[in-house]
Amino acid sequence: MALFNYLLLFFLFLVCNCTAEHLGEFCNKDKNISSDSPKSANIDHLLADLVSKTSSNGFTATSYGVGEDRVYGLAQCRGDVSKKDCSSCIQDAAKQIRQLCPNQADARIWFDYCFLRYDIQNFIGEVDTAFGIFYWNVENVTDPETFDKDLGALMDQVREQALVPKNGGLGKGKTKLTPFVTLYALVQCTRDLSQLPCAQCLAIAVGNFPVFCEHRKGCRVLYSSCYVRYELYPFFFPQDSSNSTGSSGKYLRAVMHP
Ligand SMILES: *[C@@H]1O[C@H](CO)[C@@H](O)[C@H](O)[C@H]1NC(C)=O
Ligand SMILES: *[C@@H]1O[C@H](CO)[C@@H](O)[C@H](O)[C@H]1NC(C)=O
Ligand SMILES: *[C@@H]1O[C@H](CO)[C@@H](O)[C@H](O)[C@H]1NC(C)=O
Repeated sequence: MALFNYLLLFFLFLVCNCTAEHLGEFCNKDKNISSDSPKSANIDHLLADLVSKTSSNGFTATSYGVGEDRVYGLAQCRGDVSKKDCSSCIQDAAKQIRQLCPNQADARIWFDYCFLRYDIQNFIGEVDTAFGIFYWNVENVTDPETFDKDLGALMDQVREQALVPKNGGLGKGKTKLTPFVTLYALVQCTRDLSQLPCAQCLAIAVGNFPVFCEHRKGCRVLYSSCYVRYELYPFFFPQDSSNSTGSSGKYLRAVMHP
């Protein structure tokens, strides 16, 4: 299977409520730059732009500089997140990405509430699933067959929502598995993508569920073009007031790299 041609870079065990911590980063080591280069100065300007512009509507795709030193950037918050949370997430992202990838002209950082990236190549509007981060709950569901059916139906529903232009690439929903157990799902494409690349990104993410997430109680797939997540507890806004059992648990992480 083509999936297994990917190199699994590393695994990490963690127990957390990781909303505030970053979920991962990608520093492209094939695009090294020195920290006193014009490109690096342009990245600093770009990041300031992204921070100031993104909180108002949750999304910015822009560029800074001219000629070969021009840098392209994108910042986006998850569509259900408040302006306040969005703003603080983008600020953290802009700060941390420079600490994590100080010498790269292509860098990306993922949080639950936001995503930020920049590159010297123009990537705006293009689907990119080359680098992916997976998180999954170590616990398995008790009734895999029914679960797969219900998850599949919910995923179809939220993916369809994400493709409706007015939804800004966001789809979210829930379904009751039993009177006491509810499944929650959210998908989000970056807003520079049109319907087709958004649909492609979501299809690849869901198609890769079996690699790490088969029958798991929760799963997140983080790509540069989309975010896909399901859990057996409420995790998106407006927050569901129903029982939130299992909101903390053990998650494993793996990174997929071509
Ligand atoms: C880029 O820099 C890193 C160290 O920061 C190094 O490991 C890597 O080999 C460099 N890449 C290239 C293409 O020179
Ligand atoms: C869940 O299922 C996987 C694969 O079948 C297995 O390796 C793992 O140990 C199970 N996890 C738990 C907590 O039982
Ligand atoms: C919460 O769970 C209890 C039993 O575990 C159940 O009786 C109650 O109806 C649940 N509340 C909601 C809002 O689902």
